[in-house]
Amino acid sequence: MKLYNVAIVGASGAVGEEMRLVLEQRNFPVGKLKLLASARSAGKKFPFKGEEIPVEELTKNSFGGVDIALFSAGASISKEFAPAAVEAGAVVVDNSSAFRMDDEVPLVVPEVNPHDIKKHQGIIANPNCTTIIMLVALKPLHDYGKVKRVVVSSYQSASGAGAKGMSELISQTKQFAEGKEINVEFFAYQLLFNLIPHIDVFQDNGYTKEEMKMVNETRKIMGDPNIMVSPTCVRVPVIRAHSESINVETEKKITAEKARELFAAAPGLQVIDDPANKKYPMPLFASGKDDCFVGRIREDISQVNGLNFWVVGDQIRKGAALNAVQIAEKLVEA
Ligand code: HSE
Repeated sequence: MKLYNVAIVGASGAVGEEMRLVLEQRNFPVGKLKLLASARSAGKKFPFKGEEIPVEELTKNSFGGVDIALFSAGASISKEFAPAAVEAGAVVVDNSSAFRMDDEVPLVVPEVNPHDIKKHQGIIANPNCTTIIMLVALKPLHDYGKVKRVVVSSYQSASGAGAKGMSELISQTKQFAEGKEINVEFFAYQLLFNLIPHIDVFQDNGYTKEEMKMVNETRKIMGDPNIMVSPTCVRVPVIRAHSESINVETEKKITAEKARELFAAAPGLQVIDDPANKKYPMPLFASGKDDCFVGRIREDISQVNGLNFWVVGDQIRKGAALNAVQIAEKLVEA
């Protein structure tokens, strides 16, 4: 079996750590694994297939002999270092927003548009987590009945904002339990016992950047510039896994029964939809899982070709690390 030298850039971050785990769990054909991060993390060691691999400081010379570089260290690091990785001969799978909307960079969810991978010129972008989770569910509906319009509200966990978001929610929980004053440093407001309808920065049109990512990335990945998407993204006091309430209008009528059948046959998606027995997807259940979960499937009583459902996915796995590794798997299959 051919082996591939893989680098993880941002190896000590939440997504970088998950990438290492996913590579091992899926038995990706790794020759040598290189862990790269800022000087601050250099020297830390992380386990991989029974070995302890030291983190090296990321420089533009880090990529000699690397076949695949998985980047998850933020857009500015990607912009600065991804070209050096490509120059050295690696294919970059980039989890940041740096290149997602570039025309020459494929933006890929393997269950939706795997065919776009082969168009790459050195960089393939991993979409925003909230977009990935939504599209795993929208794709089978689009193929069957053509999605015209989507209204989506997200319920995004604290860890979507990174390790600092997660630790702020945990600290606030401890502070409450100990009767102490609740400290707010990272999020705009206290997240514990609250909802914050504000993820990333507001744009001139009143939507946030996170919401506009859902609009623009959906059109690019689905290859359909006419899909209308209207999102509201909300930070919720959940540790891990994002949930989305989705209403779609399709060109062709899709009954709830048909939708259940389409969802059940779709890759990467499981149906949990038995309200009489209190069965529906929830973030506590979806955390740490590879698949996305869909439930509360029902026809929209307010319009003819409308459908409502609820989808939940682990945004660190399918929304980031797993999606990137799946792209790498398709690359080496080709
Ligand atoms: N932007 C997402 C969030 C993380 O803040 O929840 C995944 O892209």
